[in-house]
Amino acid sequence: MTSNEKIDWSNLTFSYMKTDYNVRCTFKDGKWGEIEVCEDENITLHMAASCLHYGQEIFEGLKAFRGVDGKVRLFRPRDNAKRLRDSAMGIKMEPVPEDLFMKMATMVIKLNERFVPPYESGSSLYLRPLEIGITPRVGVNPATEYTFIIFVTPVGPYFKDGFKPTKVAIYREFDRAAPLGTGRWKVGGNYACGMAATAKAKANGFSAALFLDPKEKKYLDECGPANFFAIKGNKYITPKSGSILPSITNMSLQTLAADLGMEVECRPIPVEELAEVDEAAECGTAAVCTPLSEIFDEGANHTYVLTTDGKPGPMVTKLYNALRDIQYGRAEDKHNWNTIIEFDK
Ligand code: PLP
Ligand code: COI
Repeated sequence: MTSNEKIDWSNLTFSYMKTDYNVRCTFKDGKWGEIEVCEDENITLHMAASCLHYGQEIFEGLKAFRGVDGKVRLFRPRDNAKRLRDSAMGIKMEPVPEDLFMKMATMVIKLNERFVPPYESGSSLYLRPLEIGITPRVGVNPATEYTFIIFVTPVGPYFKDGFKPTKVAIYREFDRAAPLGTGRWKVGGNYACGMAATAKAKANGFSAALFLDPKEKKYLDECGPANFFAIKGNKYITPKSGSILPSITNMSLQTLAADLGMEVECRPIPVEELAEVDEAAECGTAAVCTPLSEIFDEGANHTYVLTTDGKPGPMVTKLYNALRDIQYGRAEDKHNWNTIIEFDK
């Protein structure tokens, strides 16, 4: 985008828009080098780079919000930095130190300040950190050289209808991850694994696939690129599983639910229990907190109907608002989740 073009901030979708700069750092000879500021959106790779052949690629997703007071807040970046390190260790990549992650995240926001959406738009700046193994490898071994990049793009809602109930489907013919595999880490390959199920869901009029646990196919796992939770009486229930990504949004909603006096249960949730829940939603940085209206279980040929009036339920709405209020600086950040970005005057 040139400086003269106008962005329709209130109607952004979750898609890539070119911004001014990205930041990069390479691990070589046993150490991280200098941070590079790049305008180029392309990367040059050796054709045998380990990320291309053996899937040594991990990423993160986090958002910066321009608040009601004009300040820019980055939501829980240290948790993303920690999860990126966990992912790296999970597939034998070089962990990015927290300080480097924070420095680069702050830098890339400052460099692209004009792309942080205005408060009134309800949009945000999405940060996409990614790490790739770049060492040429034909034998299956971890790389010894890595590149860590953060780019940003302004985004609107992940699902086109925003905070409106959406339908999802359960298909038993697909797994997203193995029971002791990479599902708990943010590895690019997990998303490749989920694409066939998502494509089938979309072709059948659903917005996402809700995966079951890959071992017994009995319990709810997670929902496309987001965690699942439900409201059952005064309880916030969410799956406990070794094959789902520990969502920072879900952790935050659990805390907010407890703040609202709810009981929080993190445990295996059998599919049939969907018949007993009052509300359900999927949650994540991109999905935020998206209510579910229907869950179709293809194997049982049964649809669990959660809402019929097209409106989000009261507790999911309360939690959504509590989270948004903190992210946009409308409520006290009593858990210290936000990092305020200080711009040089
Ligand atoms: N599950 C998967 C598979 C995801 O890709 C994401 C998105 O990051 C989430 C859950 C939600 O995690 P978070 O709330 O940290 O964004
Ligand atoms: C996020 O919510 O940040 C994600 O990474 C989901 C993305 C795969 C669309």
